[in-house]
Amino acid sequence: MPPLQLNQWRFHKKLKKATLVFLAIQVVARAADLTANWVVRDPLPDGTVRRTYFDLKQDGSRITGHIRATQFYYEITDSTGGPDGFTITGIMHDGNTVRSVKYGGKLSGDELDLTTRRRPDAPLTHLTARRAPAGEGAMPARLPVPALHPVRWNGLANTPPMGWNSWNKFASKVDDAGVRAAADAIASNGMKQAGYLYVNIDDTWQGERDAQGDIEPNKKFPDMKALADYVHGKGLKLGIYSSPGPNTCAGYEGSYGHEEQDARSYAAWGIDYLKYDWCGARNIYKDDEMHAVYQKMGDALASSGRPIVYSLCQYGRADVWTWGSAVGGNLWRTTGDIRDSWDSMSKIGFSQSDLARYAGPGHWNDPDMLEVGNGGMTVTEYKTHMSLWSLLAAPLLAGNDLAHMEPEILQILLNREVIAVDQDPAGKQARRASKSGDSEVWVKELTDGSSAVGLFNRGNTEAFIAFKWTDLGLNGAPEHVRDLWLHRDLQVSGPEYSVSVAAHGVILLKVSNVGKTD
Ligand code: GLA
Repeated sequence: MPPLQLNQWRFHKKLKKATLVFLAIQVVARAADLTANWVVRDPLPDGTVRRTYFDLKQDGSRITGHIRATQFYYEITDSTGGPDGFTITGIMHDGNTVRSVKYGGKLSGDELDLTTRRRPDAPLTHLTARRAPAGEGAMPARLPVPALHPVRWNGLANTPPMGWNSWNKFASKVDDAGVRAAADAIASNGMKQAGYLYVNIDDTWQGERDAQGDIEPNKKFPDMKALADYVHGKGLKLGIYSSPGPNTCAGYEGSYGHEEQDARSYAAWGIDYLKYDWCGARNIYKDDEMHAVYQKMGDALASSGRPIVYSLCQYGRADVWTWGSAVGGNLWRTTGDIRDSWDSMSKIGFSQSDLARYAGPGHWNDPDMLEVGNGGMTVTEYKTHMSLWSLLAAPLLAGNDLAHMEPEILQILLNREVIAVDQDPAGKQARRASKSGDSEVWVKELTDGSSAVGLFNRGNTEAFIAFKWTDLGLNGAPEHVRDLWLHRDLQVSGPEYSVSVAAHGVILLKVSNVGKTD
């Protein structure tokens, strides 16, 4: 290149200066405005990245837009301040609940410094958001829901499913080794022989989708097919978890728009059970569309080529018991999540009487998984939990650490006489027969004409509970009464049975009266 002439050199210098001034103005203009799509990236140990998007629009002193934290999608309804210091408040409607979230922040160079509290009483968490391409992380467009039609029953779950699920004890800590340990325990501690067959992985196993859109497990599950082979090798079955929404409750990848593809992946891995959890679908569909949305996965499972138990988890909304079996569901949750406490367990368990008529072979009410052995209740309370769930013909999915449990907990889970009540082939769910103060009597009709009778004391002090044989349609004392926890036949006489029941305890009887019924 020939040397520059003086005037050319001056012109170049001016041009350079003008460009710099222009760029500086750009930066200032950009810095002065929060309008952009911002993302906070939080890498998790399982190799996935948790992303929270702030799609902001600054209009003078007002900030509007949306915050999407995986399955939570908030509309910004309030704001204060601007780039030098602002707050934004977002709200989200979920059925009858309104959730809200609040962030503080300021622009710092080309980043947003944000603060929030995970809970109102939690310390401030500091986050850094960076610019993301427009539209990244936006809530996906709504897919049309299919017209309703009945999905044929898969022939599974003739009696309530039994097994184990990772969530109650391990939540996001579930991994390949933990699932193998649960399978090992079930196969060696008597649970398999007692009927516990399903080893179910709950939320947090998911990784990203590959270029073809196939779901891959995250780092915690290096080889899902190998895991299924291992579990099958023990004579057990493997269960998995997903959501009809873009995200699961724990914020992982859901099956939205990939229903058939995911059902095919599950079948190819050798999955035998799917729990399908609403959570992330709530931002896209309304409750009255649940039927159609669940039908979609019911159809996908039916055409996957593998028999897969279909477990609906949408917390008993939209009267699921009236349509759960029509979508091919083998069980459906009837309530919100159980916790490991007497209050939670008893509130759920004793509220199920009205649903009795919806349970039957192939399709069950699911008052949620067992908490037996997780430490929040006494042994007496866990026996009440096991008795009540068995009377309710509920799925018996242990939710504790099977590899490390006390013998007294294993004994509860292994009580064959109580399990027989749950697994009775007639599949009738118990109803509340009477209630007096804190005392309740529940009766379940069994196939052989006998009845299982639970005398429950919900109170905090020991109580006498009386039960009249006429309430079972009997003229007088039955021929045969057995205490299913003491494993002992009882001698009874007179018109009623009266017994002392421990606080929060139960006496569970099997009452048979061959030839003596009215
Ligand atoms: C929901 C379900 C739970 C569990 C979690 C996992 O809360 O009801 O049983 O599956 O999601 O995130």
